[in-house]
Amino acid sequence: MKIFEKIDAHLQQHRTETWEGTFRDYLPMVIDNPLLAQRAHTRIYNMIKSAGVRLDDDGKEHYAFFENELFGVNEPLARIVEYFKAASLGSDVGRRILLLYGPPSSGKSQFVILLKRGLEAYSRTSQGAVYAIADCPQHEDPLNLMPHALRRDFQEETGIHIEGELCPLCALHLREKYNEDVYQVPVKRIFFSEKERCGIGTFVPSDPKSQDIAELVGSIDLSTIGDFGSESDPRAYRFDGELNISNRGMMEFIEMLKADERFLYVLLTLAQEKNIKTGRFPLIYADECVIAHTNETEFNEFLADKKSEALHDRMIMVRMPYNLKVSQEERIYHKLLRQTDLQGLHIAPHALRVASIFAVLSRLEEPKMAGLTLLKKLKLYDGEDVEGFRQKDMRTIQEQTEREGMDGISPRFIINRISSSLIKAGTTCINPIDVLRALKVGVDTHGQFKPAERERYNNLVADARREYDEIARTDVQKAFFVSFEQEALTLLDNYLDNVEAYLDQTRLTDPITGEEVQPDEKLMRSIEDKVQVPEYGKDSFRNEIFRKVAMAHRRGEKFDYTTHEKLKEAIEKQLFEERRDTIKLTISSRSPDTEQLRKLNEVIDNLVSREGYCSECANELLKYVSSLLAREK
Ligand SMILES: Nc1ncnc2c1ncn2[C@@H]1O[C@H](COP(=O)(O)OP(=O)(O)OP(=O)(O)O)[C@@H](O)[C@H]1O
Ligand SMILES: [Mg+2]
Repeated sequence: MKIFEKIDAHLQQHRTETWEGTFRDYLPMVIDNPLLAQRAHTRIYNMIKSAGVRLDDDGKEHYAFFENELFGVNEPLARIVEYFKAASLGSDVGRRILLLYGPPSSGKSQFVILLKRGLEAYSRTSQGAVYAIADCPQHEDPLNLMPHALRRDFQEETGIHIEGELCPLCALHLREKYNEDVYQVPVKRIFFSEKERCGIGTFVPSDPKSQDIAELVGSIDLSTIGDFGSESDPRAYRFDGELNISNRGMMEFIEMLKADERFLYVLLTLAQEKNIKTGRFPLIYADECVIAHTNETEFNEFLADKKSEALHDRMIMVRMPYNLKVSQEERIYHKLLRQTDLQGLHIAPHALRVASIFAVLSRLEEPKMAGLTLLKKLKLYDGEDVEGFRQKDMRTIQEQTEREGMDGISPRFIINRISSSLIKAGTTCINPIDVLRALKVGVDTHGQFKPAERERYNNLVADARREYDEIARTDVQKAFFVSFEQEALTLLDNYLDNVEAYLDQTRLTDPITGEEVQPDEKLMRSIEDKVQVPEYGKDSFRNEIFRKVAMAHRRGEKFDYTTHEKLKEAIEKQLFEERRDTIKLTISSRSPDTEQLRKLNEVIDNLVSREGYCSECANELLKYVSSLLAREK
């Protein structure tokens, strides 16, 4: 069986990865490969970079490290990576605590989890390898053994700067066990592991009054204190606080601002001085990255509190708002649904999209620019140009917002609603209408929404539904065509030929009779009419289209029927109008005749094979669109 081979390979790899020796053996290794001496922030920065960095058209960096897990939050991620970069270059920001704040379920914990799991894996690679003094509970850097008097020479020869101090226990061992002979001190390769409390820690505040600081900085070991006689003997101390075990790596501080001030001040010393203050010992050197997160209410209280001013400027605060792009929001739900045990589930086309539209609408601030609706803004944010606004307007639009992305519906709310609707309905297919219904029930029954909020959300569900009506209709209409694309292209060509002849004031050759004919004004107007181009505006519209065609041609790009948003809409509407009556008759018929039945089956087949429907949701779609058409009458 393959699994045995895999286990063998795994064990083999583990054997080759492990390494034990002495400081004498280790020293040439680190001189040869200074990466081994990298400090915590640098290691994290290199880890993020090593997964790959992509530059987009605007010159912004995207990190593959986060790309399959965190969607639509590039800006905060860029700021965080910037922090690690500066810290790794030796800037003072490395001495600050990173504090993430944002609305519930905006991905803060997810971000930290990625770093933790990433570090665990990275410490198993050769670039991310970590070595430590073997019997140090804080797995400290072996280079801390280098006597101070020699450090400058060491740096001159090797370029490696050492800033750490031996911990009290290692200092004692060196004296008593190894007779001050640093060469003898045992060194081993370590692997970060949160489970084994090595290099990765987590601190969760509980009751601020009773929580023991020992959880953070360790404590006196009452069982051994008798053996050593003194409380200040490091052998009678347990260096097992979260800060101790996180040395070399990172510690997550959950809900930081809920913790008692005592804890915060310990953290500050750590960040600022890279020291842990522990009971009766001198300060203990530690090199680790502390990442804290908190919700906004507590964050604001903290900012307003004059007493904590000293803390403010020792933190780098990064706002982590919700994602505001519909397409990215869909990816979040896909990811979250994959993680639930709803195996074999079919997600109907647009089911997650309608949920995303609702969620993003709930997060957007009312636009301040004339002519810009909430829905247009939503599309613009997702990279679409809309009537009257283009991508280049985004900046101004964003500048007019105050706290966009900090309020609204969370991904967790949406996923809970979707899951509960599935369980209730007992189906194996989630369709958009069920999702919208589930959202509405959720909005109506959620205990924490205020009446005004509830009303606003209900209106947004209705908006999302109107968007869906358009989408549903288009899907059905397209499915009526043998090849919609082909017919759309033919109509486009036809329109462009006519426009060209019209602008050049020439005639066209009729393809069948070979006769010279006038441009078909009726056809052109019929198409233009679909997107409200008035008679007096037709020349400028035709000129614009023609310019775009020429431009695409010059750039060697294809101008197809989807290139120009407005023209696309016009062409689709024109095609649909031509078939309107057939479509309506076929899907609305109570007792379809043989021909209508054949067509219906073909339409369902098309929906299944081209658009990703299953037969269940394809039938639902037809029912729904038929009800829409009936209402239109
Ligand atoms: N932008 C995003 N991209 C991908 N997944 C996301 C995003 N935002 C939230 N999620 C997902 O939503 C879920 C909740 O997020 P997470 O637990 O990280 O939120 P949080 O900010 O820590 O919230 P809280 O303040 O409630 O602790 C996670 O499964 C996370 O993966
Ligand atoms: Mg969280």
